[in-house]
Amino acid sequence: MISVGIIGGTGYTGKYIVKFINEHPNVSDFSIYANKSAGQSLHEVFPDLVSEVENQTVKNAEDLDLSHDVYFFALPHGESFKYVPMLIDAHKKVIDLGADFRLDNAELFLNTYKLDHTSPEFLKSKIYGLAEVADNYESTNLIANPGCYPTAALLSAIPLVKYFGENILSVSTVSYSGISGAGKKASTDLLFAENYNSVKAYNVGTHRHEVEIAQELNKYSNEIDYSLTTHLLPVFSGIYSTTIIHVNENVEQENINSIFNQEYSGKTFIRLRQTPPELKWVIGSNYCDINVKAAKNKIIVTAAIDNLIKGASGQAVQNMNKMYGWDEALGIKIYKEEFQNV
Ligand SMILES: NC(=O)c1ccc[n+]([C@@H]2O[C@H](COP(=O)([O-])OP(=O)(O)OC[C@H]3O[C@@H](n4cnc5c(N)ncnc54)[C@H](OP(=O)(O)O)[C@@H]3O)[C@@H](O)[C@H]2O)c1
Repeated sequence: MISVGIIGGTGYTGKYIVKFINEHPNVSDFSIYANKSAGQSLHEVFPDLVSEVENQTVKNAEDLDLSHDVYFFALPHGESFKYVPMLIDAHKKVIDLGADFRLDNAELFLNTYKLDHTSPEFLKSKIYGLAEVADNYESTNLIANPGCYPTAALLSAIPLVKYFGENILSVSTVSYSGISGAGKKASTDLLFAENYNSVKAYNVGTHRHEVEIAQELNKYSNEIDYSLTTHLLPVFSGIYSTTIIHVNENVEQENINSIFNQEYSGKTFIRLRQTPPELKWVIGSNYCDINVKAAKNKIIVTAAIDNLIKGASGQAVQNMNKMYGWDEALGIKIYKEEFQNV
């Protein structure tokens, strides 16, 4: 049995780590750490958890110690830097849901996040934890959990980039996210009144996740011409992602189907669909639903995930399970019932 620390457990993604870890059969105890919520009780922060999770006082992240085996960080970027080196030096396991360790070098991090990286040595030794694709979990104690848009886009594109390699002309993703994707921090742009009955593109041509996705795709083929365009959707959670891959040859549907069937055979949380998925099929779950369609020299891949679960907390717990060599689905319950009216 292991002990778990959840730093940022009072945020949107942190809440689902709390829920999953609370149900996990191999976890004996867990503590929640935060910033402004420190000193409050868990039930004050999340009254809906009253009958589900035993109450505890939220601790201050600055008081984090070495008493746990695994540490989940769900903090704004630039914050987990401060704690991760001490934990890795003490041979603890760390899973960071933020962006601090996702990029492979400090220069790329500085250009993308406008912050100097204080522990660049860990950028190379971490694993980028796209759970269906990553391996070698025994080689590291640090997992950089992928971003939410990257999870959907990479699960859509990687099988094709691997297969078509240099025959790919371009890869582009158009993606829509529920408003919880921005976390719980207040901002006028994210108000219900600003977004209800409307859709807008944002960070066009400059979204940080474009860099992350391009980095990972380039591990399978050099110099992929990649673009990501993100939109805000007036729903609480969910990412809907359409990725179009242009290749320099005509492609057959049968061939594309078999590439995806092979890539994701035996993967519990990938569901290959005969039609484009709908967001409501995956909300509250750790599934990524994917449909793939060949059209002459194009392949169109539609994918849907819950940004807070498969795009964050569910994948993070999946990664913890893989670090320990346990069944990857352990503790990852489907919270469908909560979202039944969505
Ligand atoms: N939302 C998503 O869909 C999503 C998906 C994938 C990855 N992520 C990434 O996951 C991380 C967490 O996202 P989120 O949406 O859960 O954020 P969030 O709802 O804003 O929650 C942030 C959490 O961090 C704590 N916190 C903030 N500043 C802190 C500090 N200086 N020291 C210690 N704790 C601090 C907050 O505590 P208080 O309650 O005390 O303020 C809260 O628990 C981010 O890096 C985000 O980019 C988010």
